[in-house]
Amino acid sequence: MAKILVIGAAGQLGIELVLALQTQYGVEEVDVSDIRVPNDEGVMRSRFLHLDATDEDSMSTVLEEGRYHAVYHLAAMLSATGEKNPIAAWDLNMQSLLHVLEAAKEGWIDRVFWPSSIAVFGPQTIKKSVPQDALLDPTTVYGISKQAGEYWCRYYHEKYGVDVRSIRYPGLIGHRSAPGGGTTDYAVEIYQAANAGEAYTCFLRADQALPMMYMDDAVRATLELMRVPANQIRVRTSYNLGAMSFTPSEVAKSIQQHLPNFQVHYQPDHRQGIAESWPESIEDTAAQADWGWKPKVLLPEMTTTMLLAIEKKTQTAVH
Ligand code: SER
Repeated sequence: MAKILVIGAAGQLGIELVLALQTQYGVEEVDVSDIRVPNDEGVMRSRFLHLDATDEDSMSTVLEEGRYHAVYHLAAMLSATGEKNPIAAWDLNMQSLLHVLEAAKEGWIDRVFWPSSIAVFGPQTIKKSVPQDALLDPTTVYGISKQAGEYWCRYYHEKYGVDVRSIRYPGLIGHRSAPGGGTTDYAVEIYQAANAGEAYTCFLRADQALPMMYMDDAVRATLELMRVPANQIRVRTSYNLGAMSFTPSEVAKSIQQHLPNFQVHYQPDHRQGIAESWPESIEDTAAQADWGWKPKVLLPEMTTTMLLAIEKKTQTAVH
């Protein structure tokens, strides 16, 4: 029986996290589930369970039978898509979390990971170096669901001793999986366009700074947080996690160091309003103090890695 289950394994973070968990613990130790089949051969080496995370009966059957040591529950509708389907986003994001927390309360799961986001912050939150206990002021349904989810996590921990851990991720940028429906997706798309030799039309303003993180750092943070002894974890809502802060024009410039002819045009759309409500940078001393968090990858190195990796992938696909 596998020891780990990843729910939402077909998503941007899910694919990357599954690959890392497989490397760390072995393919057989990881079960993966999603409502869609993950488009990744590596991920599909693990046992795949077709699962609608909002379906209470199937969730409790899988979780009761599985008796997993750790469940990473990543299924969610992100900020931009959520605004088009507010009630569906709320249903998916909240119901699925409550099903997992209930299963942990029953004693079927030892340890739960659930991601929160910078989307819990908003216009009234301080903009720079946002501290752990800053005012939460979400303006999107996604952000509201993350804020409520954070308090549900703490509630289940305090009332029932559920060992649930969480990180407020910044925008995540990786080359192994595609983002889906977020406001920070531009920072992945821009590298894809640059590699394809195309100009990129950015849906945010050139000077819109946001907190961002390279995917390998995000995955490492998640695995590190899940390995820490429970008594070291003092934040049971969700940890702030910082790495870098940049604007679209700064990414464009860093790409132009490699590809001088690369061009970016700016056509801000409804996502600009979401981005504007979020902070520019995050302070993460609690994560540093409690479990030794430290980011490794900053913009110049990320750009080199992203461009090389995407080019390699394109070449493999052609040959
Ligand atoms: N990347 C997410 C989004 O843009 C933020 O957590 O929705």
